[in-house]
Amino acid sequence: MLKRVVVTGASSGIGAASVRRFAELGWQTVAVARRADRLQALAAETGALPIACDVTVAAQVAALAAEVAATGGATALVNNAGGALGTDSVESSSNDDWRQMFEVNVLGLRSVTAAMLPVLRAGAAETGWASILNLTSTAGLSAYPGGGGYNAAKYAAHAVTEVLRLELAGEPIRVMELAPGLVHTEEFTLNRLRGDATAAAKPYADVIPLQAEDVARVLVAAFEQPPHVNQDLIVLRPVAQSSVFHTHRGPLTPKG
Ligand SMILES: NC(=O)c1ccc[n+]([C@@H]2O[C@H](COP(=O)([O-])OP(=O)(O)OC[C@H]3O[C@@H](n4cnc5c(N)ncnc54)[C@H](OP(=O)(O)O)[C@@H]3O)[C@@H](O)[C@H]2O)c1
Repeated sequence: MLKRVVVTGASSGIGAASVRRFAELGWQTVAVARRADRLQALAAETGALPIACDVTVAAQVAALAAEVAATGGATALVNNAGGALGTDSVESSSNDDWRQMFEVNVLGLRSVTAAMLPVLRAGAAETGWASILNLTSTAGLSAYPGGGGYNAAKYAAHAVTEVLRLELAGEPIRVMELAPGLVHTEEFTLNRLRGDATAAAKPYADVIPLQAEDVARVLVAAFEQPPHVNQDLIVLRPVAQSSVFHTHRGPLTPKG
């Protein structure tokens, strides 16, 4: 069976860790992001095919799908490219930030999915099955103060995932969603806080968060299930975080 997966947002964090994990388990991988130098390094390490693509630019997304089709096709897609900008209130945040979050987390996901669906259908025609997984967030399931545009974008990505599953009913294409809580990746919070490294370290201080590798292990395991098994929604949090509002700092100790 053709096991070839396209992972967007593969130049860092969860996407890069997922490419590594897929490769470990014998998958062919296509690593997609804007920063070509980082993709080249990942390709040298894992054997991935690197494709530089901004998922918010239609012509680049079309070229991505064409290159994937021309180089062997695909049976799997991970829509992981995304991120947050700012922690401002609804009242004080800027539409520019919100627009950027919608562009990448929602419209980018839609464009890549639409462009890749014919390729995935061809893969399914050859092998019997195909899979899509959208990387959303617990921020797409629970709102929090300062979440504003990121909550709105990830709620939208969650909704789009449900719509897609309904629209693909009857086809051998599973549609999965992975919604992680606190994950300590090098760039996510740094980008959200516009490069303020001191502030970006705070959410991870004195807590045991998820690592990108933890998310990647669970993500790839979903693709490794028998192809008729669809894990609709996987919510993944560190033990220290029992909700978006409850993060335990300090050691975890049994009571008694
Ligand atoms: N870290 C967390 O706590 C957390 C929790 C829940 C969900 N998530 C979600 O998980 C996903 C990955 O997060 P992460 O923590 O691994 O963040 P990250 O390290 O900042 O990775 C984001 C990736 O997306 C890519 N990207 C951003 N804009 C893009 C664009 N326009 N076109 C193509 N690629 C683009 C970036 O690469 P380039 O800059 O090279 O393009 C990068 O590879 C995101 O969707 C995020 O919202 C993260």
